[in-house]
Amino acid sequence: MSSDAPNKEACSPANGGCGCSGGTPASGALPPGVVTVEAPAPTTRRNFLFQIGIALNLLAGALISIPLIGFVLSTFIQKFPLQWISLGSLEKFPVGQVRLAQYLNPYRRTWDGETAHIPCWVRRIDEAEFQVFAINCTHLGCPVRWFAESKLFMCPCHGGAFYENGDHAAGPPPRGLFTYEYRVLNGNLEIKGGILPTLANPGNPTEKVKEA
Ligand code: FES
Repeated sequence: MSSDAPNKEACSPANGGCGCSGGTPASGALPPGVVTVEAPAPTTRRNFLFQIGIALNLLAGALISIPLIGFVLSTFIQKFPLQWISLGSLEKFPVGQVRLAQYLNPYRRTWDGETAHIPCWVRRIDEAEFQVFAINCTHLGCPVRWFAESKLFMCPCHGGAFYENGDHAAGPPPRGLFTYEYRVLNGNLEIKGGILPTLANPGNPTEKVKEA
């Protein structure tokens, strides 16, 4: 045996090792103050795919939550305040009659096309008193039609019916027709519009509602 070869007996764990490459030192053999650092586990393909999956899930969650948060906040932020809109001269609306009128949505977008023209029903009760009804049924929003013979507004979708004064008469609608706030200015009938009334936001603070 050459003199350079490690002494296997001296390097054996049983003897506490000697620090040479020929044996493994026992854990208690490290000098005080020496800190051992474990090498990071190598990234496996499985770990990598797992992390990609988590990142994609977080991204999808963020994308889904943005419109949800917007929907919740939109309840508190009224982006489209109602505006006074002219329906035309009073002569278009004879006393005791119901007439179809329409106005141009002040918040229309270029791609709205014909849908920017919003119809409504105008009932002239006397010289000064009107009722202006939104055309959408209070059930699921189909446009209601006026039948002068029966003096009823009828909904073609599920048989909803409303009296001449807009009160609910029959069918599934949960309430009477939505109405617009109105005023007469310089011989013109004007309504406060800009949003389609809904159950959550009927839009007319002056209306007296009779539930179905
Ligand atoms: S939408 Fe009018 S009755 Fe259903």
